Formats: sequence, structure tokens, C-alpha cells
Amino acid sequence: MKSLLTRPRIAPSILAADFARLGADVETVMEAGARVIHVDVMDGRFVPPITMGPNVVAALSPQVHALGGALDVHLMIESPADQVDAFADAGADSLIVHVEAAAHLDRTLRSIRDRGMLAGAAICPGTSVEALEPVAELLDIALVMSVNPGWGGQSFIEASVERIKRVYDLLGPHVAIEVDGGIDAATAPLASAAGAGLLVAGSAVYGAADPKAAYREIAESAGASD
Ligand code: DX5
Ligand code: ZN
Repeated sequence: MKSLLTRPRIAPSILAADFARLGADVETVMEAGARVIHVDVMDGRFVPPITMGPNVVAALSPQVHALGGALDVHLMIESPADQVDAFADAGADSLIVHVEAAAHLDRTLRSIRDRGMLAGAAICPGTSVEALEPVAELLDIALVMSVNPGWGGQSFIEASVERIKRVYDLLGPHVAIEVDGGIDAATAPLASAAGAGLLVAGSAVYGAADPKAAYREIAESAGASD
């Protein structure tokens, strides 16, 4: 997956897709050019909703990997260390845990890399960016939440732009910065200009009448088109 992160990309979030036709909805965005598919895992504890787990990753893995794509898995769950093996076995390419939920962040990130996945840490809008500093050497991805996690369709929190810049200054160019929440053709350029290289978009893609056109428009706005 690392080779996919060498230039800016839009990662469609299947949280906003139609769960009754998930494979077809993934195919749609990959036909439009997407190669990183974002999977939002929620446990009903760290955040109120319950969404999907390793079985969904396993079901999508052959299709996404056959097309040279990658599955970017965002864990919004308590005790994420307990699930590292299950997501590795399922075919996840990156595994992102929340610093607010990982009691042993250093150990958890090491175990993610040990299982051959890219390791990521996410910070909620109310968490200091400095929380990433102690684990800087263990990070492949730093995820700056631009909404409070739990739901798609929320508005982009403007202060996220400054936070992306601060994370970039803190971690340098070798850690990919991902931004998640409220990304559309208006906010994507702001996040991209601040240093985000992986931009998650859920409802702005799948909520559009033409998801392929919406994907391309957002990608173009962020300088992420092929
Ligand atoms: C929110 C999730 C996001 C969500 C983004 O907790 O982490 O990935 O799918 O949805 P939009 O793009 O609709 O804000
Ligand atoms: Zn997410």
C-alpha cells in the first residue's frame, strides 16, 4: 500500500455506500480511479454506532487487491490491540487505531507493522496533535479527524486545516497524513494544501447522484486525479 501513498489520493469511505450492494459500490469508485478503500469499523462503545468488522474486509479483499487497490481500515473501537490479527488475516493493508482508545499505543502500532500492515494513529478533533509525537517513529499514517468520529455526513471542522499543518511540522514528510470527515470538493483543496495526502470522502462520493463524477471532481479539486 505504501506505493499508493506517494501522491495525493481520495479514499472513498464505504460507510456511505449501500451495504446491500457493497461489492458493486466498491467497483464503481475503483472504475473511477480510486485505489484506496476506507473501511470504518465502529464497536458501539468508543463511538455509539456499530458498523462492520473483519468479515467485511475479508469479503472485499479479493476484489480490491485484484485491481491493485488497498483496504485502509479505521478502527473506532476500544481495545484495538485485540483485533490486529483478525484484520491482518482478513486482508487489511493499513490499520489505524485511535490514540484515545489504545491503552498501549506503542505496542499496538508495533504489532500492526509486525503483521505486515501499515500502522496508523488517529486523533479526534479534541485531542492534542502532540499525542502523536511519542510514536512518530512507529507511524506510517497519521489520521487527523476533521469531524468527531461516529457518523458520516457531518460538516468539516475548519480548525482541522491548522491541525494538519501542525502534524506535518511534527512528523515530517515521511508519515502520510490522512484527513477524515466532511471532505468534498470545497474542503479537499484546503486539507491537501495543508499537507494531507490521503483524503477520505464518504457521503460526498456515495451520496451524489453520480458517484464516479463526484469522486473525479473531489480528486481534481485536491490535485489527486490520475
Ligand atoms: C466518521 C468516519 C468517516 C466517515 C466520513 O467517523 O471515520 O470515515 O465515513 O464520512 P463523510 O465523508 O460523509 O464525512
Ligand atoms: Zn474513517
